[in-house]
Amino acid sequence: MGLFGSAKSKKIKPAKAVTGSIQLPGDKSISHRYAMLAAIAEGSSEIHFFSSSADCQSTLACLGKLGVTIERRDNVVTIQGVGLRGLRPPREVLDAGNSGSTMRMLAGILAGQPFRSVLSGDASLSRRPMQRVIDPLTRMGARIWSAEGARPPLEIEGGALQPIRYELPVPSAQVKSAVLFAGLCAEGETEVVEHTATRDHTEIALEQMGVEIGRHGHTISVRGPARLEGRTVHVPGDISSAAFFLASALLVPESNLVIQNVGLNPTRTAILDLLASMGGDIHVLNVEMLHGELLGDVRAGSSCLEGGEIPPGLIPRLIDELPVLAVVGTQTEKGLWFRGAGELRVKESDRLAAVAPNLRRMGAEVEEFPDGLRVLGRQTLRSAEIDSYGDHRIAMAFAVAGLVAEGITLIRGSDCVDVSFPGFFDALARVTD
Ligand code: S3P
Repeated sequence: MGLFGSAKSKKIKPAKAVTGSIQLPGDKSISHRYAMLAAIAEGSSEIHFFSSSADCQSTLACLGKLGVTIERRDNVVTIQGVGLRGLRPPREVLDAGNSGSTMRMLAGILAGQPFRSVLSGDASLSRRPMQRVIDPLTRMGARIWSAEGARPPLEIEGGALQPIRYELPVPSAQVKSAVLFAGLCAEGETEVVEHTATRDHTEIALEQMGVEIGRHGHTISVRGPARLEGRTVHVPGDISSAAFFLASALLVPESNLVIQNVGLNPTRTAILDLLASMGGDIHVLNVEMLHGELLGDVRAGSSCLEGGEIPPGLIPRLIDELPVLAVVGTQTEKGLWFRGAGELRVKESDRLAAVAPNLRRMGAEVEEFPDGLRVLGRQTLRSAEIDSYGDHRIAMAFAVAGLVAEGITLIRGSDCVDVSFPGFFDALARVTD
């Protein structure tokens, strides 16, 4: 989607302060996983504080078409599990919408089901690479057809699976999860080797549902056929959504903001560590462990940030936060740069090719590499028309830029924020003066 992709646009005014306290929607990654696992569990599950994102709604809709009974009341989702082999052949195409997580992780579950199904997505998802799940799931015994270039739609003929040992060629929690989900149905031990740690919500969710997970060095294993038990869980607030509020509070003078009940899983908190190491006034309070996940409150105040390099080893642990970090970089002393993030080119948009021109529209100097960006520091951002490229994280990152820019920033195609955070602009307005 380009500048004219969506009729909706949003005006962002410069802010004097970001203050108060805010509670964000439940974590999108965790919500997807519990929905899918609850569907193939025995008995019913209650998922409290389930993500309000359109992406997670896509997951629920696909599960509904697979014969799963789902009830949603406010932020509580109740799912009647059908057991490991109880999903029904869908009568329609399963529409994953904009959600890569839905398509890739559900592919892992469908690989073990004895029927054919088709997973499709919107224009953005239809451009995203699926070879990364086709390869391991085919090796396990599923038959998968795709559009040219291993793009969606995917037609999956599942069935009896054999366990494999799979080394992830790209650090991807979605691919890891797809293989582990398929491993639940395989006869014997499936192993995934990840040389760079990615988010481990799948491992935690499986453990919470009574599945034994092996974690030895870089290897994660699961033994199938597994039996999952339905249960009640609470999802922490989404740290990737918190990143936009955190960045706003650090950049806008006179700010002091508390973000409540944020997920603090160590595989997701690189954003906090990085910004704190650059001089960010960030404090984590009231930490507790709930259903295997850490959560707590994050307080952030206006800061003078030094900037610098984001080490390549950190990239997989803050991949979704890189667009807003690039915006933050323009306000640091030294600027900010990173390489080793070629994966950004195959997200909901080509995020390197989205951030760079948008920053330039605001008058900033930025250099784009095949796998990274270099943003100069101490830059004055000017009013501009920003293209969201239909990508929620681009729209939200540039809303943050708008708070520290001179004049009014217009974000075109702003409604895409619903993909992860319906109500984002209202939530931002509530904490900004
Ligand atoms: C996700 C993993 C990441 C991330 C995405 C959500 C997940 O993708 O960018 O927003 O929930 O597992 P990759 O697995 O492709 O790195």
